[in-house]
Amino acid sequence: MDISRDAPIGVFDSGVGGLTVLDELLVALPAEDFVYFGDTAFFPYGDKSPERLRERAIAISDWLLGHGVKLIVIACNTATAAALDHLQRACPVPVMGVMAPEAHAAVQTTRNRRVGLLATVATVDSGSYARMVGAHDAGVEFTSVACPELAPAIQDGDPFGHEVADLVRGYVAPLREAGVDTVILGCTHYPVVDKLLRRALPGVTLIKSGEELAREVVVSLGRREMLRDADREGEYSCACSGDPAQFATLGARFLQMPLGDVLQHD
Ligand code: DGL
Repeated sequence: MDISRDAPIGVFDSGVGGLTVLDELLVALPAEDFVYFGDTAFFPYGDKSPERLRERAIAISDWLLGHGVKLIVIACNTATAAALDHLQRACPVPVMGVMAPEAHAAVQTTRNRRVGLLATVATVDSGSYARMVGAHDAGVEFTSVACPELAPAIQDGDPFGHEVADLVRGYVAPLREAGVDTVILGCTHYPVVDKLLRRALPGVTLIKSGEELAREVVVSLGRREMLRDADREGEYSCACSGDPAQFATLGARFLQMPLGDVLQHD
């Protein structure tokens, strides 16, 4: 299959959280075009089985491939843990996920070799982060905390209200107790409440999916000579499986850039 460097990049998540990855990609790769899919009708992914998550990942990647993408970015830790290897084998274009870049960055960052993780239940249960951190430094003490209520409270409630602030305080308590100096935000919804997390974890370095992955995408496309010419401003569009009006309202807050019309697709 002949893939053009002028083709768009496909990005997906369970909802609006992946927009925290898309915004880093838009800044790092301003000349590229992007197609984003938020699987809001199936949100949250954090309580779904690996089999169900794989089914959704296959359906969404087929849709993105139908839009002629040159690369697929899984902007969701939960979907990456469940489906990255499967999509990489099945897709005719490269597929990149979150997790590996954050695990590497966390090991490079920690000074006391105590690393924490905040993530969905499915991501923690997959054990993927513990394995990846261990592969870079087997001597790192790793503490993971599953946060079943955090992504739903951020996406469906008021991300900056008291409920989310209380949840954050509760979820970070075991990490404070463990004395970690570095915490992986293992869910793309969490950077939205960055300030609450930084206040609850003073002096701790937070590792975020978007920043780490955007660097990897730039290097990966550059090495393959698949970057577009830089003398243009790229375009981006969003679609979701749930209510497009709701996605548009919330999405603009997550993206912190104009969102445009949102298409609905099952
Ligand atoms: N944004 C997803 C992630 O990075 C999680 C949210 C959900 O449970 O769907 O894991």
